Amino acid sequence: MSHYHIKHLEEYYQVYRKSVREPENFWEEIAEEHFLWRKKWDKVLSWDFTKPEVKWFEGAQLNITENCIDRHLSTRGDKTAILFEPNDPNEPAEHITYRQLYERVNQFANVLKEQGIQRGDRVCIYVPMIPELAISILACARIGAIHSVVFAGFSSKALATRINDSECKLVVTADGSYRGAKTIDLKGIVDEALQNCPSVKSVLVVKRTNEDVHMEAGRDHWLEPLLDKASKEGKAEIMNAEDPLFILYTSGSTGRPKGMVHTSAGYMVYTAYTFKNTFQYREHDIFWCTADIGWITGHSYIVYGPLANGATTVMFEGVPSYPDFGRFWEIVQKHKVTQFYTAPTAIRALAKQGVELVDKYDLSSLKVLGSVGEPINEEAWHWYNDTIGKGKSPIVDTWWQTETGGIMITPIPFVTPTKPTYATLPFIGVQPALMDDNGQEIKGNQVDGKLCIKFPWPSMARTIWGDHQRYKDTYFSAFENKYFTGDGALRDEVGYYRITGRVDDVIIVSGHNLGTAPIEDAINEHPAVSESAIVGFPHDVKGNALYGYVTLKDTGESRNHENLRKEINQLITDRIGPIAKLDKIQFTQGLPKTRSGKIMRRILRKIASNDTSNLGDTSTLLNPEVVQEIMDNVL
Ligand code: PRX
Repeated sequence: MSHYHIKHLEEYYQVYRKSVREPENFWEEIAEEHFLWRKKWDKVLSWDFTKPEVKWFEGAQLNITENCIDRHLSTRGDKTAILFEPNDPNEPAEHITYRQLYERVNQFANVLKEQGIQRGDRVCIYVPMIPELAISILACARIGAIHSVVFAGFSSKALATRINDSECKLVVTADGSYRGAKTIDLKGIVDEALQNCPSVKSVLVVKRTNEDVHMEAGRDHWLEPLLDKASKEGKAEIMNAEDPLFILYTSGSTGRPKGMVHTSAGYMVYTAYTFKNTFQYREHDIFWCTADIGWITGHSYIVYGPLANGATTVMFEGVPSYPDFGRFWEIVQKHKVTQFYTAPTAIRALAKQGVELVDKYDLSSLKVLGSVGEPINEEAWHWYNDTIGKGKSPIVDTWWQTETGGIMITPIPFVTPTKPTYATLPFIGVQPALMDDNGQEIKGNQVDGKLCIKFPWPSMARTIWGDHQRYKDTYFSAFENKYFTGDGALRDEVGYYRITGRVDDVIIVSGHNLGTAPIEDAINEHPAVSESAIVGFPHDVKGNALYGYVTLKDTGESRNHENLRKEINQLITDRIGPIAKLDKIQFTQGLPKTRSGKIMRRILRKIASNDTSNLGDTSTLLNPEVVQEIMDNVL
């Protein structure tokens, strides 16, 4: 019997040790007993981090949707698979049963096939948080097409870059989307993007807002009539274990986003197993992850992980502040949510609102609270623990990444004693290492270093779409034979991990990963701008906010700085999306640089954070005089 469900701490340590000593036997047992395979594997694992190449369950055949849908039909056909809660609290929630999900996914899959989509083709999904988003993902997986979901808050430029990078043939979108009191013209954004996307042959449009939108003849199709005509039956394509399941873009240290490629079998096994244990999921639970499916959290813990366990997963279209800041708690009460998984930025925003908005609702259904996306600060942790969990629902502070596919360091609720701000222990099968700047592993406890993982786990990304070299350079070159996460961490006296934050040029704002390079590229497009540098500074709700230092071209003319700030933020909104807008923009005479011309972000970060007591030695800079000027004019 495999240890699919871990129930106490001793068992965790015992299973963890087994997963490290005999990883292949361990994962083989989990895979064997809990999933539906069309053919079993020839080899559980082969790996070489120098190439890097990792294969799990090689030779196996499966379809992930048979695991997420078909196999539940006989026992859970009438159980709610997806519970859709609309933006407008007066619109009724929709309960989609496993049987209905089966039919709707098949219909969608049949429409995709009619549009000429075949196994291996890329499909871009730019859809708000409505059921069709989950259904289109599953429909792609059903026919072996590779889905590439782009968060429906990205701009047309960002969308076009992603469509072109993986040469998507088809785009799924909606006429518009609702976000609180706002309506967003999604189709307009897609139309603009597609002016520069030659690979796209067709667009399927879901009706949501009923806005009058332009439909390009021969290219654009309303989805509904096509679905109505399509069969509710359909065979799942039999996929190989290592066939790509999806691409999901994440920010990097250059302007080009990285298309992380996840494959079928390992991703399925790991997301299902982590879901079961991290949330101590049981059959009649109602699981709610508030993330958008446009991010990895939604892929793994709204769609694949919960459905692979036959769970009921809540999908919420709206925002925490609409119609007021009690909305999350109203939904918890209404649907008797048992596990609630959200981001620290949301917790901080809600904690500011006063307890009346919490106390109005009955939260007694809650058993487990989750946090993800950025470090959770002590104050937010306690508020979440006391005010929402009433001290009874353990907080699982889950550390992981788009690249890791599933949760990597986390408490197991009711098993691992929690500790504020600590993600605690590695999940089963995960072998973390803290590294020093000389490339040596730091052993022992009460130490800190750069966080690496030294052994493969089933759901790790296998490559960057179209650029394996970049995958190697980014993740496997900083430390020999190890996956480098880009995060710093410390290990306390009992071996618990605390993630201290990014150690590279990625800044996490409201739980969203933002690379500095694409933002700087956008700013530098402004005709008046000569150079720019972005850093993060602490913000009480967003965690970090963005601070831009901008030098202007010397044209002899005087410039209106307020207008320039607006224009710069508009450029960022156009190129990336509103999530990347700057909170502060300081115009400077120059940027501090090393003699080799590299911008010294460390100094800029300290100035923006009001932490100038120890700037270090600035005399070796190429232009030390700018530092004082920047400090004198800090915002
Ligand atoms: O810095 C870490 C932070 O988010 C990064 C990954 O971002 P992304 O790929 O967008 O995935 C987010 C959702 C899985 C990490 O490198 N991060 C994520 N979870 C935590 C965290 N930092 C601290 N504590 C966490 N629990």
